[in-house]
Amino acid sequence: DGPAGSGKSTIAKALANDYKILYLDTGAMYRACALKALEKKIDITNETEVEELIRALSLEVKYENGTQKTIVDGADVSDAIRAPEISMAASTVSRYPFVRLKMAEKQREIASDMSCVLDGRDIGTFVLPTADFKFFLTASPEVRAERRKRELESKGYTVDFEQLKEEIVRRDQQDMNRAIAPLKQAEDAILIDTSAMTIEEVLQAIKKKIQEKIRCPKPMKR
Ligand code: DC
Repeated sequence: DGPAGSGKSTIAKALANDYKILYLDTGAMYRACALKALEKKIDITNETEVEELIRALSLEVKYENGTQKTIVDGADVSDAIRAPEISMAASTVSRYPFVRLKMAEKQREIASDMSCVLDGRDIGTFVLPTADFKFFLTASPEVRAERRKRELESKGYTVDFEQLKEEIVRRDQQDMNRAIAPLKQAEDAILIDTSAMTIEEVLQAIKKKIQEKIRCPKPMKR
């Protein structure tokens, strides 16, 4: 778990790859809901309208050569959900209890089947409170905005740093202050500030914690 730009998706993907387990990007699911609402020209601040739309929505998560594909009503929206305007809209629709419960149910269903790394904002507190390992990644707003800028530019979008930073802070506020399953560090999650760390350093820190926890504390007596 962690806010936008904390490095969680890069790290979660790499961890899942190293441990040969599934990676689930839960943000993609909220983004898919937002995309559909915007396409249908629904007022996303109207909870009832959004609920009606999401109730009828078919959302599937598939894997093609190990890459997650998000399918909405039969269409692959994996690229479309990355457009900059979807981020804030995803945060807005994710406030609604109906949307969250439907998404959380799907996430639990996927996680119940196999070992996996879930990347999100409420996994440790709400979706999987008994998860074996919980990490909460964070970083300064400047660093996070810089990372998001690079990510969006690599996809061909032109973005303004100051505007992006302002949006990230606003999105954090919205995600942290919603009534149901807000963005929050679980009490038993390990906090990692990635501001001054490389991807490799974060990965090593997480793997070290995992190894410490799974190591038998004392040799068993025979
Ligand atoms: O991680 P992301 O930027 O793709 O997430 C987009 C939005 O989706 C985020 O601002 C809030 C919402 N979200 C959520 O509420 N809970 C999650 N587990 C993941 C994302």
